[in-house]
Amino acid sequence: MSAAHTPVLLAEMVRLLAPADGDLLVDATFGRGGHTAALLRTARCRVVALDRDPAAVAAGQAMAAQSGGRLVVRQGRFGDMVRLVRAVTADPVDGVAMDLGVASPQLDDPARGFSFRTDGPLDMRMEAEGPTAADVVNTASEGELTRIFRELGEERYAGRVARAVVAARRIAPLARTLELADLVRRVVPRAKDGIDAATRSFQGLRLHVNDELGELDRGLAAAEHLLRPGGRLAVISFHSLEDRAVKRFLGERSGGGAGQSRHRPAAVDRTPPSPTFQVLTRKPVMPGPAEIAANPRARSARLRAALRTGAPSRAEAGEIAA
Ligand SMILES: C[S@@+](CC[C@H](N)C(=O)[O-])C[C@H]1O[C@@H](n2cnc3c(N)ncnc32)[C@H](O)[C@@H]1O
Repeated sequence: MSAAHTPVLLAEMVRLLAPADGDLLVDATFGRGGHTAALLRTARCRVVALDRDPAAVAAGQAMAAQSGGRLVVRQGRFGDMVRLVRAVTADPVDGVAMDLGVASPQLDDPARGFSFRTDGPLDMRMEAEGPTAADVVNTASEGELTRIFRELGEERYAGRVARAVVAARRIAPLARTLELADLVRRVVPRAKDGIDAATRSFQGLRLHVNDELGELDRGLAAAEHLLRPGGRLAVISFHSLEDRAVKRFLGERSGGGAGQSRHRPAAVDRTPPSPTFQVLTRKPVMPGPAEIAANPRARSARLRAALRTGAPSRAEAGEIAA
């Protein structure tokens, strides 16, 4: 098992966040601290880092101890970013970094149950609490499993996978990653591009187990609420569902429409809310061939960034809960 994680789009993330001496930055997805370390190296800034995985936070304590008080690492979800950061400092936040998904030490440890390549318990939880992937595949209805594989895994053969899961669990509960991976490979045709047939079903389950898209929506709204006017948000996503959510959020918040409040009927107030962000990346920044060759996990990365305006956040405007 490897304990390292190669940070993706590192120089690009630092360039877009543009840390300056005295700044306060939030690294919402500490992992093994690759982006945090680069931020701390670039300027005499401070970083409050978060990760929902207790193993990442434990690994971060050594870096925090050597930071001369410039780094604090806290356990928690970025959906709770406002509360977690405000528990550390009331200072204005100059930048928020989000590098979504799982880190290599999670993927590479068979005991965490994320990988369809190595055998382990079917777990997939980023924290050690809540229902595991095994709980989901052994208890969810066939309809719910189809939805998970189709909507969160973007698996064309979601119905077939769900049916096969339900048939298998009638004989014995599914407990191991390779059991599920082999079952998926039996019912999903092999792809021409060589991508493992289990990839999408595992993605769907992982997103469901960790409510990753719900967390992303809450995390983006929290970043909007925390950032000072002129502060910067930079988000790296790894698959189209995440990238679409980030693009939609920044589109809405930069005045691209669709910002209507659920609580105010359109007929009563048609004034669009003032833009809270100005997009800095018209197209997402992607890794070049050299980075992909050195780190194949970077191949699907997309980085989007935006500058916070002076408009009140939707939470301040009373449209969503802070
Ligand atoms: C791609 S890794 C980040 C790697 C990091 N940038 C580095 O250079 O080492 C994503 C990390 O985010 C964490 N994570 C995922 N969702 C989270 C959430 N909702 N709140 C906090 N941390 C989260 C994962 O546990 C994982 O450690």
